[in-house]
Amino acid sequence: MKQKSSRLVMILFAVMTIVGMLLSACSAPATTAPAATTAPAAGATATSAPAAGGTGLQVGIVLPTKSEPRWIQDQTRFQDALKKAGFSVEVLFSEGSSATEKTNVESLLTKGIKVLIICPQDAVAAAAAADEAHAAGVKVISYDRLIRGTTSVDYYVTFDSMAVGAQQAQYLIDHATGKGNPLYLYAGAATDNNAFIFFEGSWEKLQPKIADGTFVIKNSSQAVSLQANPKLTRDQEAQIIGQITTNWDFATAKTLAEANLTAATTADKGTVYILAPNDGTARSIADTFAADKDVKKYYVTGQDAEKASVQYIIDGKQSMTVFKDVRTLVQTAIDASIALLKGQPLTTSGTYNNGKADIPALQSPVITVDKANVKAVLIDSGYYKASDFTGLQ
Ligand code: BGC
Repeated sequence: MKQKSSRLVMILFAVMTIVGMLLSACSAPATTAPAATTAPAAGATATSAPAAGGTGLQVGIVLPTKSEPRWIQDQTRFQDALKKAGFSVEVLFSEGSSATEKTNVESLLTKGIKVLIICPQDAVAAAAAADEAHAAGVKVISYDRLIRGTTSVDYYVTFDSMAVGAQQAQYLIDHATGKGNPLYLYAGAATDNNAFIFFEGSWEKLQPKIADGTFVIKNSSQAVSLQANPKLTRDQEAQIIGQITTNWDFATAKTLAEANLTAATTADKGTVYILAPNDGTARSIADTFAADKDVKKYYVTGQDAEKASVQYIIDGKQSMTVFKDVRTLVQTAIDASIALLKGQPLTTSGTYNNGKADIPALQSPVITVDKANVKAVLIDSGYYKASDFTGLQ
């Protein structure tokens, strides 16, 4: 009897705790976006509450490809966070095809989603899918990459991509001494708006150092012809990117780096500086340069802090990466979804023009990681486990 009543008390206590948690979650305010600073990304702290009265599939997510660890990370973090927040979710991949992307969106619309979180495969092509979602009364969040040429985007949830490019360039600048250092430039896919922003961020830092002779561009005649311009128009950027694009593809990056090294003279090698746009392409490019007997030392940038690149950094095969805390981006997208479902306004960190409209943005900070701070930023923060790597000091 005594045992029964104490069990009853425990059950009552548990029920009250759960009710309390639900009440406080429901009254949680809509979150604000992390400030656009260069401070280390904070962990995901904002509270998420299930949409009031929401049934069925509430949030649909469409990501670009499964063949890059970056997007698998986003998928996993989304599924974990949304499940915790009480949402039903489906994540679909476009696998490099805008047609598949559109079919994915249409399939999610049929299932009754209320919010579409989409990272476009191709910035321009994705506008049609966003328009279709909006026409069906579904809110659209452009995630990480901006959809261009449409008004059908409610929020742009992004990292500070200008800072990504700027930090990559700054790293090369900080490690260069003297004049005439060979510089090799690589960029992302021209269909990705981010490729332009990353390059713009890098160019603004590198250009004065090209103009003063610290660096000499070795692999782009277009960049050389524009090297006196401190700022580039989008068209000028497109001309350069057209010559140095990796298309975000490891194999393309390798082929291009090989072609660049074949065309270069021995004097264009020695100690070289390489602007590589992300980790996947950085590893391909780094391996290619490392295999050239005339390359004595190289500095190469990256971004994403992919596990394989963290190991490359520990091993001295990649110089740096730019850490973009996916936990923060995912949480921001979820908080924006909740605010949209509840019709609550959000504090934004400015706007991004997509060629058709100024899209309100929620921007997260990024941080440079190299051998010196890799443990503090990525392991001690709990982002990765020490046991995922070898040779960590
Ligand atoms: C993302 C990067 C990613 C790249 C290739 C960019 O839009 O911001 O994090 O490495 O696409 O997928």
